[in-house]
Amino acid sequence: MHIHAYEKIWLAFAIVLILLLLGSVTYGAVGPGVAMVADSEGQIDATALDEDERFAEPRVEQVGENHYAAYVVAYQFGFEPDPIVVPANSRVTLHVTSRDVIHGFEVVGTNANTMVVPGEVSEITVEVGEPQEYGLLCNEYCGAGHHAMEGKLHVVP
Ligand code: CUA
Repeated sequence: MHIHAYEKIWLAFAIVLILLLLGSVTYGAVGPGVAMVADSEGQIDATALDEDERFAEPRVEQVGENHYAAYVVAYQFGFEPDPIVVPANSRVTLHVTSRDVIHGFEVVGTNANTMVVPGEVSEITVEVGEPQEYGLLCNEYCGAGHHAMEGKLHVVP
């Protein structure tokens, strides 16, 4: 098939535009100090969180040299633990589940953001930088107290 030079130029232009767009999505959304690098999901019995070794006591624990795991329970209307306290300049994998209805989990001002569904464990991994306090917000309507559902992420020295 013969392609006119004009069409080749147009095609190249379109590819450049797409790459620019992808670049802005990938890099433009990364907030200061906390950057989300991965996410995934697992299954859990939302009615038996008290018997789950990860979520019976929501907490942060060290799982590697510079890697921490946070086990977080969202509920009407807050997050546990609150605050979530993690060391500066580390990698943190957040395992978040709900004990009641669908919630959101968003680290305000960063691209760390996930939906939290009862029966599922949302996992997001973030790189945290310098010591700072971040707000946590629920961005899924979850009932009368939704607008007041918030928490804190403290990145400490
Ligand atoms: Cu929880 Cu809105």
